[in-house]
Amino acid sequence: MRIPIIAGNWKMNKNVDEALEFVNQLKNEVNETDVEVVLCCPFIALSEVKKAIEGTKVKLGAQNMHWEESGAYTGEISADMLLNIGVDYVIIGHSERRQYFNETDEIVNLKVKKAVAKGIKPILCIGETLEERESNQTFEVVKTQTVKALEGITEEDLKNIVIAYEPIWAIGTGKTASSQDANAVIANIREVVKELYNETVSEVVRIQYGGSVKSANATEIMNESDIDGALVGGASLEAKEFLGIVHF
Ligand code: PGA
Repeated sequence: MRIPIIAGNWKMNKNVDEALEFVNQLKNEVNETDVEVVLCCPFIALSEVKKAIEGTKVKLGAQNMHWEESGAYTGEISADMLLNIGVDYVIIGHSERRQYFNETDEIVNLKVKKAVAKGIKPILCIGETLEERESNQTFEVVKTQTVKALEGITEEDLKNIVIAYEPIWAIGTGKTASSQDANAVIANIREVVKELYNETVSEVVRIQYGGSVKSANATEIMNESDIDGALVGGASLEAKEFLGIVHF
């Protein structure tokens, strides 16, 4: 049984006050749900949000971290710093990081390894560009990204990793992959995990879909057999809309 996981990725949105206002609107509305709810906040809001969600079912996520222990990396945040706040999850390899900050598969792999070594659960993002999709390279691209990101990751560690399949052309564009298409790619990622490890772990690992998920399409997406949750950008900024997804 894979527990569904809905994670909000606020990206570079919300100051501390806005983050707390959101949490206040959300926290008592998720007590009854069996869905795991994660808020991936900007670094500056993590501490305060951590305090605000105490005693609720909401989990805390960061949007990035560095792979080194500590040192002269101006502007970066380490795994230990996140742990000290009490972060549960960290998004790694989001396509915006890959695109705008030159994160390679190798860097993504270093970050995934560091996060699991520290006991922070990575939400590992993979996905193809429109060009790659149109030239029928989707399966190949997500396979390569999966294999490279998981290099050196043990079966035990894999159980703590959430994979987020996010076709880049569907992020923030209002275009979603059809739920069947998303399911097909996600089933394929599960196949890759099975080839890399074994069937048991491939049935355990949770794989989300991300890309213009909103309350209006969440049910259809979540009803697909292999989709275990959603990574939500735009629609996670407003509590009512995000709750609509959580209660799909
Ligand atoms: P979106 O973003 O829901 O705004 O498309 C998803 C994401 O980037 O994680």
